[in-house]
Amino acid sequence: MLAPLHNRVADKIADKIIVKAVQRFYFDHNATTPVSPEVLDAILPVMTEVYGNASSIHHFGQTARKMLDAARKQVAGMLGAEPQEIVFTSGGTEADNLAIFGVGSRRGCHVVTTTFEHPAVLGAAGQLDHTLVPVDGSGIVDPDAIRRALRPETKVISVMHANNELGTIQPIAEIARIAAEAGVALHSDGVQSAGKIPVNVAELGVGLYTISGHKIGAPKGVGALYVRKRIALKPMMFGGRHERERRAGTENVAGIVALGRAAEWALEQMGEHADAENRRQGALRDHLEQSILDRIPDTRVNGAGSPRVPNTTNIRFDGIDSDALLIALDLKGFAVSSGAACSSGAPEPSHVLLAMGLSRLEARSSIRFSLGRSNTIGQVDALVEALVDSVVHLRKLAPAYA
Ligand SMILES: Cc1ncc(COP(=O)(O)O)c(C=O)c1O
Repeated sequence: MLAPLHNRVADKIADKIIVKAVQRFYFDHNATTPVSPEVLDAILPVMTEVYGNASSIHHFGQTARKMLDAARKQVAGMLGAEPQEIVFTSGGTEADNLAIFGVGSRRGCHVVTTTFEHPAVLGAAGQLDHTLVPVDGSGIVDPDAIRRALRPETKVISVMHANNELGTIQPIAEIARIAAEAGVALHSDGVQSAGKIPVNVAELGVGLYTISGHKIGAPKGVGALYVRKRIALKPMMFGGRHERERRAGTENVAGIVALGRAAEWALEQMGEHADAENRRQGALRDHLEQSILDRIPDTRVNGAGSPRVPNTTNIRFDGIDSDALLIALDLKGFAVSSGAACSSGAPEPSHVLLAMGLSRLEARSSIRFSLGRSNTIGQVDALVEALVDSVVHLRKLAPAYA
């Protein structure tokens, strides 16, 4: 019997299309990174067997509670905090919002933050009386500028630890001293630093610190806020008495167990293995950067010379539209980013690059490469070849560049 006509037509078309299987390589780990094997091992049994509500008194609930307690210890361990100082949230965005609204939203309060924060911080601060402090041309915030922005009614300062687009590491400990002198709480968004560099909240001197699961090998939809003892945090969500009444809502046990395991792995890496994985990624990043600078003329590293997390580089290709380059690379199988994931698709240039003083044209010719555990030297070399090819091609099409 003949197949229906539309199926036969579809088969004919399919015969004519030569489907080329493109091998795909991922260089966008700051947007999100895959769930790591040890995290998967830890959560699979939880998802199938530990289904109790951690607030229930019976065996099922208490089993879930024990897992939450263990994960809280693991997350606290990665940050050098006490377990009771960890509040689990639905991710980095919620933790940032909780920090800012939790401390800075009382009447008459003022918030100080910077022009190149993640939209989660900028959006939350934007709802309140706030001051945006500029960053310099190397992607670093000047602590004195933070000091000058303080007012008697300032209740919270929020400065990210590592910038998500540039990877530049901010002088948090110095800002913490200024905050302490002024009696103001300091929040730092550590979504892009935790797991990539050693973090100790006591040494940094922060009162609040955000982390997100899906940047460190746990799934999306889980994160945490460190809140130093004695900081009075006003909850944003009301309901049950979860998380010591700081964040209502039945706990996402599997997600939290995943976050705990990812944090434990990150800490093991930093300690016993002398940061082996981060050093490996740093060497790959340096090789990528150097190869691009050597082989492609008119390229520049945005934020070069500043302290940076080891996996990130942001490079300007003069005469190139970053979205055109991103698409050309995607067609060749390489995933990179032309800005923060949340804003890609929007024609606006990156607010981070504009904040550090790049022109709109310069910002729109910059690409972020962010490495992760899956990347190898072979992939980096293949990426460089694809870049050389694509940039030559695109520059031929760019009249302004000729
Ligand atoms: C610096 C920074 N803060 C906050 C977030 C938001 O975290 P989440 O995606 O978990 O809400 C991100 C995510 O890209 C980020 O890079």
